[in-house]
Amino acid sequence: MKKIAVLPGDGIGPEVTEAAVKAIKRAAIKHNIAISLEYGRIGGIAIDETGSPFPEATESLCHRADAILLGAVGGDKWNHLASEKRPEKGLLSMRKSMGTFANLRPAAIMPGMESASPLSPRVIGSGFDILFVRELTGGIYFGEKGISLSDHEHTAWDQMTYSEMEIKRIARMAFDEASKRRKNLVSVDKANVLKSSRLWRSTVENMSKEYPAVKLSHMYVDNAAMQLVINPRQFDVILAPNMFGDILSDEAAAITGSIGLLASASLRADGKGIYEPIHGSAPDIAGKDMANPIAAILSSAMLLRHALGEEKAASSIEASVYEVRKEGNRTPDIARENETAIGTAEMTKKIIRKI
Ligand code: IPM
Ligand code: MG
Repeated sequence: MKKIAVLPGDGIGPEVTEAAVKAIKRAAIKHNIAISLEYGRIGGIAIDETGSPFPEATESLCHRADAILLGAVGGDKWNHLASEKRPEKGLLSMRKSMGTFANLRPAAIMPGMESASPLSPRVIGSGFDILFVRELTGGIYFGEKGISLSDHEHTAWDQMTYSEMEIKRIARMAFDEASKRRKNLVSVDKANVLKSSRLWRSTVENMSKEYPAVKLSHMYVDNAAMQLVINPRQFDVILAPNMFGDILSDEAAAITGSIGLLASASLRADGKGIYEPIHGSAPDIAGKDMANPIAAILSSAMLLRHALGEEKAASSIEASVYEVRKEGNRTPDIARENETAIGTAEMTKKIIRKI
């Protein structure tokens, strides 16, 4: 029996997580997989109920589970809190506590979906298929930070640090992923300005000797942001430090049509991980049956594949999503002016039926 920890979180988190849970349950029945689900609190709701964004009970649940399914955290209600007490801190603490240093974010436009992209057909061509490998437990997110006051002036700082060990383990993951795909790896940094990026670049470069079949190149992050919109088809795997990966993966999500479409897996070396949509909690549309459940549902497919080794169940979920989209079903975020949108519940029902 595989145990899945389910942490719905805030905003649209609960509604999209429920959709993902339905997909997992359906796939589990169809493919004879024994699973048990246990719910926990994270983010704002955890602050409200326990005072902490990542309570001990949730932490121990995560460590006991075979995989974690997460919704989203955060909302206006908690924006006044100090950074140490905010919902986002719950997510960061969880990533750190679990040691999930590798964040895989696939961003693809499947054949037939080209018109979903805001980019012109000339740029999109027959679609693109990019895998982001984002470092998740280091860099500026976790460096020393502080604020001081002198002469009635505040100064604040956030340190960006990377050790060779941290760079090596994420680079290895990226090379391994690239080896399984089209063998083209672009490593993103800002080595023309940052010391940590220079170490990043030389460490990745050194590792490339172990992967002669993978073509490695380096790209400054500003250029990468530009290349993504002028020629996304050039990319296969993109390796990026924590903050650059955060920013570029949102951009990549937008060019696939909507941030509501992208799933992610945050993994550690033994494969255990957290599965979550890359979008946030979108409090403005929470509870309105408007959220796109696809990113969460695709995250459940990643969970079945990476954490439970259930490839068939995973692909059946992905195929259902693809078919339902192909039939023209759209939630408000991906519907165009002349199209009628359907709600979260309806979209979920259509997908589940096909699994
Ligand atoms: C993400 C989110 C988080 C991040 C926030 C909510 C802390 O934007 O998962 O991309 O920056 O990592
Ligand atoms: Mg982000």
